[in-house]
Amino acid sequence: MKDENIIKQYSLDDDHTIDNTIRPESISEYIGQKDVKENIKVFVEAAKMRNEALDHVLLYGPPGLGKTTLAFIIAHEMGTHIKTVSGPSIEKSGDLAAVLSSLEPGDVLFVDEIHRMPRYIEEMLYPAMEDFSLDIIVGSEGNSRNIKIDLPPFTLVGATTRAGDLSAPLRDRFGIISKLQFYTTEELCDIVKRTARVLNMNIDEDAALELAKRSRGTPRIANRLFKRVRDFALVKGSGSINLDITNQALERLQIDKMGLDNTDHEMLLAIINKFNGGPVGLEALSSSIGEEATTIEDVYEPYLLQTGLLKRTSRGRMVTDKAYEVLGIERKN
Ligand SMILES: Nc1ncnc2c1ncn2[C@@H]1O[C@H](COP(=O)(O)OP(=O)(O)OP(=O)(O)O)[C@@H](O)[C@H]1O
Ligand SMILES: [Mg+2]
Repeated sequence: MKDENIIKQYSLDDDHTIDNTIRPESISEYIGQKDVKENIKVFVEAAKMRNEALDHVLLYGPPGLGKTTLAFIIAHEMGTHIKTVSGPSIEKSGDLAAVLSSLEPGDVLFVDEIHRMPRYIEEMLYPAMEDFSLDIIVGSEGNSRNIKIDLPPFTLVGATTRAGDLSAPLRDRFGIISKLQFYTTEELCDIVKRTARVLNMNIDEDAALELAKRSRGTPRIANRLFKRVRDFALVKGSGSINLDITNQALERLQIDKMGLDNTDHEMLLAIINKFNGGPVGLEALSSSIGEEATTIEDVYEPYLLQTGLLKRTSRGRMVTDKAYEVLGIERKN
């Protein structure tokens, strides 16, 4: 029992270390997102020429597309430090005051899940972002007063999977707003090959391409599948990764040719079988497959919409003809 725990612990750590090793550090290693990258390069260079902090940056897009990675790269390219906080973890005004006053000029404050920040914290951020000053109330009730703290110029990099949930005044305070897109198969193939190189593994071109095709346009998924295929290659194969072992591994992981997993299938099948193809409301769909509505919206739906298997109408979600085709089901009506 004890040994098992150690092994489990070890493997978790192992995966975690790998994640840090394969995360690109500089903008030249960051594959894809050409427009976002080109723009950021210009803004970073201009800020450096003016010897100013970079304007605040909002990065948004589905999970795993490289928002956190890009935030770290921005700090790296600016040659500054980065402090990371998560939106929901800042509960008290003092928490925010503490991080903000710990920043040095030009530093990056990375606020992950910025849409989940409490409203009053958000309001404190407005003057901090605009004038680099913080208004806080000190003292107890009846004997409180406002004090103004000057902050060093800093760059707030906010990341969110739901830009729509951000209030307009907050969104307006970002000078740079970038939407990350799903990656092309070629880009994902390059990411897989880069990961293999960093981890000292051989992978055949056709195997890398197959992995890329099944990664839902998402680098995090590409890297995760790579790690699992690497396990199969080590235990069941020759040690290097070829197409055959890749296909075997993906089959065992129940990832289909388009990269769809069990939950995707379950969702599409539920719409077809229980709701006659749709339209179906998010809540009804959520309870029918037992997944949180936010998980459906943030994690599953974006890729299904992107690939044209699902569409959103004013009356709810509907599967498309392509979905029937892909699932090999005949449409009844
Ligand atoms: N452009 C890229 N080039 C190479 N690898 C990338 C790229 N983008 C992301 N990755 C890899 O994918 C992993 C996931 O990226 P990251 O954690 O930055 O995503 P995220 O958008 O912050 O996701 P979440 O919304 O879940 O926080 C990273 O660890 C990194 O290794
Ligand atoms: Mg992230």
